[in-house]
Amino acid sequence: MSRPNFFEHLHPPTIPAREARFTYTFGLGGISLLLFLSLIVTGVPLMFVYVPTAVSAGESIRTITYIAPYGWLLRNLHYWAAALLVLVGSLHLLRVVFSGSYKPPRRFNWLLGLLALLLSLLLSFSGYILRWDVDTYGALTVGINIVRQTPLVGDWLYELLVGGPVISDATVVRFYTWHTLGLSVPVLLLLGWHAFRVRRDGGISHQSPTTSSDSSRPPRISRHELVQREGVVMLLTLAVLFLLALFVDAPLASPVNSVSDPTTGFSSIAAPWFFLWIQTLLRHLPPLLAGIVIPSIVILLLAVLPWLLDRSDTGTAVWFNREGRLAQVVVLLIAAGIILLTLWEWWG
Ligand code: HEM
Repeated sequence: MSRPNFFEHLHPPTIPAREARFTYTFGLGGISLLLFLSLIVTGVPLMFVYVPTAVSAGESIRTITYIAPYGWLLRNLHYWAAALLVLVGSLHLLRVVFSGSYKPPRRFNWLLGLLALLLSLLLSFSGYILRWDVDTYGALTVGINIVRQTPLVGDWLYELLVGGPVISDATVVRFYTWHTLGLSVPVLLLLGWHAFRVRRDGGISHQSPTTSSDSSRPPRISRHELVQREGVVMLLTLAVLFLLALFVDAPLASPVNSVSDPTTGFSSIAAPWFFLWIQTLLRHLPPLLAGIVIPSIVILLLAVLPWLLDRSDTGTAVWFNREGRLAQVVVLLIAAGIILLTLWEWWG
């Protein structure tokens, strides 16, 4: 028998019906994959018009938005795909936690997924900076000064990002290169690996026959039916993406070069929405604590979750399983904290 190709690997001839149930995974992993691919499809044409220099970046975004044919649509699609990826990827993480799907043998894939989501956040942040308007310039200034606070490697990281002692052309080129290559290619590779591992780990998590209420041979669905279901979810996702892009424009403030001092008005520094919770922390705590220590603790807690907070290998695919209570409570507290701090900044 010939080796299955990547598509066949992800879609074996039959799979258990329970694994394919929409109400188990909500299609969140697949939707995230589609959103990432949409980012590549819409991002490459934007590269033909974007000019990565400090003087021209802001203007070239205006050219894309107001002059280039369908540039506004491509930019809106790119913006919304990025926002939805962060949102849907995070919901997927919650699904994995509350259904106990991170337990052995899926612990390594938990790490791959987490790394892909973290790099996706940095990818989104680097794209946000490329807008090069007064809002994103404010976020850049705050961001690089936080990075500088990192113990031991702060100055080196600052230099790596800024490309010199102050923000200049080199900064735009660096963010542009990180965005279009340095982060997007690793995320693409990680997601391919992550999807590949799902089948390597025995398919989407399922209850073992002993814990299942029905010990008879579970029903299965064919590859054909699986692809049909994926097709429906894909079309619905694309419909939502297009509706958002057609009716809600991606934000755009004045270009940096249109104001004499782009660092004025910093009291309302506009961090991107997914980092607003850190902006709230920055208002009340020292930068090292708010920008480095607390986010690092959150990441570390998530990374070690299947080793430290729930080492059991029972309760897989059981919603809110008892063995995983501690992990569920910790993740719930982290999620509630991030949501509350975000809303506080939004409405504050
Ligand atoms: C960043 C974007 C991500 C994409 C595109 C993605 C994609 C996928 C896909 C397609 C699946 C299989 C079906 C499904 O569950 O919907 C999956 C499963 C899985 N993902 Fe992700 N994922 C992402 C992020 C994450 C994150 C942040 C984590 C956890 C920290 C994670 C952990 C897992 C695990 C453990 C599985 C196996 C779940 C199971 O077997 O039930 N993924 N992922």
